[in-house]
Amino acid sequence: MGFFDTALRPGILAAGRSDRLKVASSRTSMTRNVVERFVPGETEADVLAATEKLLGQGLMVSIDHLGEDTTDERQATATTEAYHHLIGALGTLGAAPNSLEVSLKLSALGQALPRHGTKIATENAMAICDDAQRHGVLVTVDAEDHASTAERLDIVRTVRTDFPTLGTVLQAYLRRTEDDCTEFSGPGSRIRLCKGAYAESPAVAFTDRAAVDEAYQRCLRILMCGSGYPMIASHDPVMIESARVLATETRRLPDSWEHQMLYGIRTDEQRRLAEAGGAVRVYLPFGAEWYGYFVRRLAERPANLTFFARALVGR
Ligand code: FDA
Repeated sequence: MGFFDTALRPGILAAGRSDRLKVASSRTSMTRNVVERFVPGETEADVLAATEKLLGQGLMVSIDHLGEDTTDERQATATTEAYHHLIGALGTLGAAPNSLEVSLKLSALGQALPRHGTKIATENAMAICDDAQRHGVLVTVDAEDHASTAERLDIVRTVRTDFPTLGTVLQAYLRRTEDDCTEFSGPGSRIRLCKGAYAESPAVAFTDRAAVDEAYQRCLRILMCGSGYPMIASHDPVMIESARVLATETRRLPDSWEHQMLYGIRTDEQRRLAEAGGAVRVYLPFGAEWYGYFVRRLAERPANLTFFARALVGR
C-alpha cells in the first residue's frame, strides 16, 4: 500500500465531511469546471440531456439525484419528489426496455433521521419503486458507510417483497459481503458489485488494495455463478476481464449481466464494451449536492487528484 492509500486517501475522505471546504468549493468556478467531468450538471434538464446522449451511444444509464445529508423529513420528501419528477420525465423518452434506472441513497430518503428514519426511508423507497415500475424505470439502492449496511439490506428485503426487481449495491471491501453475495445471488436479484468508496476500519473492511481486489474476485464468482443479474461496477481492467471470463465459463447470455461505470471515467472503455456487444450502464449523478460524491472520486485515484490540482493552478 502506498502513501496515497495510507495517508492521503483518509484525509481526502475526511475533507468530504467538512462544511467549510464544501462552501468554499461551491464558490470556486474553477472547481465547478472540474466537477463537471464527474457530474453533468445540477438540474434535471442537465441530466436528461446527458442521458439522451449516452442512450444515443448505445449505453444505458442509472441516475443518482445527489444528496446524502438529509437532516429533516422535509428534505427526505423533497428528494423523493425530485425522483418522482425525474422518473416521469424519463418515462417520456421512449428508451429501450431496462435502459433507464435510478439510483437512490436511503440516507437521502430519511434513513438516518432520529425518529422513524427506517420507516420514512422505506415508505419513500416504496413510493419511488411504484412510480418507477409504472414508467418502466429500474431502481437500485446505493451502498453508503458500513454502519448503515445491515439496515439498508433489511429495507431492501422489505421493499423487494412488493418490488422484486429492486437492486442494491454490495461493497467487496466489507468483510461481510461474501455472505451477502450468497444471499443475493438467487433468481430475480439485481446486485451491483463495487469495491467500496468510504473510509472503513480494518475491523469491518479489507483496507489493503490487493485484499480488496481478491475479495472482489470472490464476490464476482459467487454472483456470476448464481442465478441473479450481476452488475459489475468497476473501471478496473482486471475485474472487467474476470467478469468476461466468468460469463463465458457460466454460459451467461449477454443480457443476463452488465458492466457499470461512473460518468466521465473510462468513457472510451464504456463505448468499446458496448460496441463489442456488452450491456454497459453509466452511473449519472446530478444535483446541487455534488460535494461528497466528488470528493470520493478524488480519493479513489492519485490521477483524479492530479487532474483536480492541475485545473486549480490552470495547467
Ligand atoms: P480502482 O479505483 O480500484 O482502480 C483499479 C484500476 O482501474 C486502476 O488501476 C486503473 O487501471 C483503472 N481505473 C480506475 N479509474 C480509472 C480512471 N479514472 N481512468 C483510467 N483508469 C482507471 N461505492 C460505494 O461505496 N457505494 C456505492 O453505492 C457505489 N456505487 C457505484 C456505482 C458504480 C456504477 C460504480 C462504477 C462505482 C460505484 N462505487 C460505489 C465506487 C466504487 O466503490 C469504487 O470506489 C470505484 O468504482 C473505484 O473502484 P474501481 O473498481 O473502479 O477501480
